[in-house]
Amino acid sequence: MLDRIENRSAEIAVIGLGYIGLPTAIMFANAGFRVTGYEIRKEVVEKINSGKAHIVEPEIDSLLKRAIENGNLRATSDPEDIRGKDVYIICVQTPLKDDKTPDLSYLENAVKTVANTMKKGSLIIIESTVPPLTTVKMATLIEELTGFKAGRDFHMVHAPERVMPGRIFKELVYNSRIFGGITPESAELAESLYRTFVKGQTFKTSSTVSEVVKLMENTFRDVNIALANEFAFLAHQYEIDVFEAIELANTHPRVRIHSPGIGVGGHCLPKDPHLLVWPAERDFGLIRLAREINDSMPLFTKDLLFSALRELNVPPEDAVVAVLGLAYKGDSDDTRNSPALAFIGAIEGDVAEVRTHDPFVGGSAGSVEEAVEGADAVVIATDHTVFKSLDWKKLGRLMRTRILIDGRHVVEEPPKSFLFRGVGRGEY
Ligand SMILES: NC(=O)c1ccc[n+]([C@@H]2O[C@H](COP(=O)([O-])OP(=O)(O)OC[C@H]3O[C@@H](n4cnc5c(N)ncnc54)[C@H](O)[C@@H]3O)[C@@H](O)[C@H]2O)c1
Repeated sequence: MLDRIENRSAEIAVIGLGYIGLPTAIMFANAGFRVTGYEIRKEVVEKINSGKAHIVEPEIDSLLKRAIENGNLRATSDPEDIRGKDVYIICVQTPLKDDKTPDLSYLENAVKTVANTMKKGSLIIIESTVPPLTTVKMATLIEELTGFKAGRDFHMVHAPERVMPGRIFKELVYNSRIFGGITPESAELAESLYRTFVKGQTFKTSSTVSEVVKLMENTFRDVNIALANEFAFLAHQYEIDVFEAIELANTHPRVRIHSPGIGVGGHCLPKDPHLLVWPAERDFGLIRLAREINDSMPLFTKDLLFSALRELNVPPEDAVVAVLGLAYKGDSDDTRNSPALAFIGAIEGDVAEVRTHDPFVGGSAGSVEEAVEGADAVVIATDHTVFKSLDWKKLGRLMRTRILIDGRHVVEEPPKSFLFRGVGRGEY
C-alpha cells in the first residue's frame, strides 16, 4: 500500500462530496491520484461531472475544472464505481438530532457502503467529526459486515478536518493535521497519503485521541465565544463598547478574548461540544452553559431591535425589518445553523414584515436597496465584506424609520441619522 501511495497509483474513493469532501477529492485528484467521489445527491454528482462546484469557495471552480479535465476526478452515485478501492475517505455530515444527541445515521450508511465495496488491505479514513470512540465502533461494524479483522485485513484512521470555509484550499495545504489510527501502521499510511499535498505539520496518535482533539478545539472556541457574549451583556449594563474593552484586554500578553455577536452557527461549532460530552457519564456544566449562552444571542439581538423600535414609537407589530445576511459567516453561502435564521424565526410573527438580502444566498431580495426600501429597521446578521462599505446616508433616505442593529460588529462608526444598537456596543 505504501508503494502505491508513494507512486500515486493508489485509487481513492471519497464518500460525501460536500464542503469538506469535494475540496478533499479535488486536492487528491490534482496531486495525481485517480479519485472517485461517491455522493448520494444525484444533482450534485451531475454538476460536479460537468465541471461546476455546488458550493461557494475561492478557487474551487478552476481547481475542479482541472481535476475533471485531466480525468483524475469523477463523481458517481453508483456504489459499484467504488468497488475495490485502496483508500476510502468518509466526509459525510454528522449533525445533531432534535434532542441534541448525535445523528450518526449518515456515517453508518457510509461505513456500510464502504464495507460492501472495500477489499482486503483497504485504508479507511473518517474525516467527519465524530463522538469519541466512534472510529473503533465503526471498525467493529466493518469487521461484522465483512469478516475482515481490523488492523490486520484493513486499516482505519480518524483524520479530522480543521479547514475554515473561505480559506479551504489554502488551509488544506498549510494546516497541521492529526492522524488517529486504530493501529500505528494505519496512522502511518494515512500520514504518507496526506503528505502528498499537505505542507503543514503532521502528527500521529490513536483514533480516540484524535476524535477528542477535534472536539476540544471547537469546544474551546464555543466556550470562549460564550464568555465574550457574557462580556457583551455586561457592556450593555455599563454602557461601554465591549469591542474597545476587548481590544485593550487583548494587549495583555496572555489574554485573547474572542468576539461576541448575534450567535454561533455553521455545521460544526453548535454541535461539536454536544458530540464531545454526549457519550461521557457525568454532566458537563460549563460546556453546556456555553451552548445555551450562544444559542440565546439571536434573542438578545431581538431585544435590541424591539427596544429601539419602541424608543422611536414604532409598534413592533407594524414594523418592516430588513435583515442583511443569512449565512452563518462572512463571505460564505453556508446557512447551516445560521444565527441569522434563528433571529428571523424569533421575530417573524411579531413584526409586520421581514425582508432579507444576502449576496451569497439565493431566494432573498436582489439588492440591499430593495430590502431596505420603506423599512423601519435594518439588522446586520452576517459580516459579509460588502456590508462594511454600505452608504448608510443613502440607504437611510430609502427607509421609513432609521434604526440600525449591528449583530456582527460590521459598522465601525454608527451613522449619525440612525438610532444605532449593536451587540456589545452599549447604549448610544
Ligand atoms: N464544513 C466545515 O467547515 C467542516 C470543517 C471541519 C470539519 N467538518 C466535518 O466534516 C464533516 C462533513 O461536513 P460537510 O460540511 O462537508 O458536510 P456536507 O453536508 O456539506 O457534506 C456531506 C455530504 O455527504 C453526502 N452524504 C451523506 N450520506 C452519504 C452516504 N451515505 N454516501 C454518500 N454521500 C453521502 C451528503 O449528501 C453531502 O453532500 C462533518 O462531520 C463536519 O462536522 C466540517
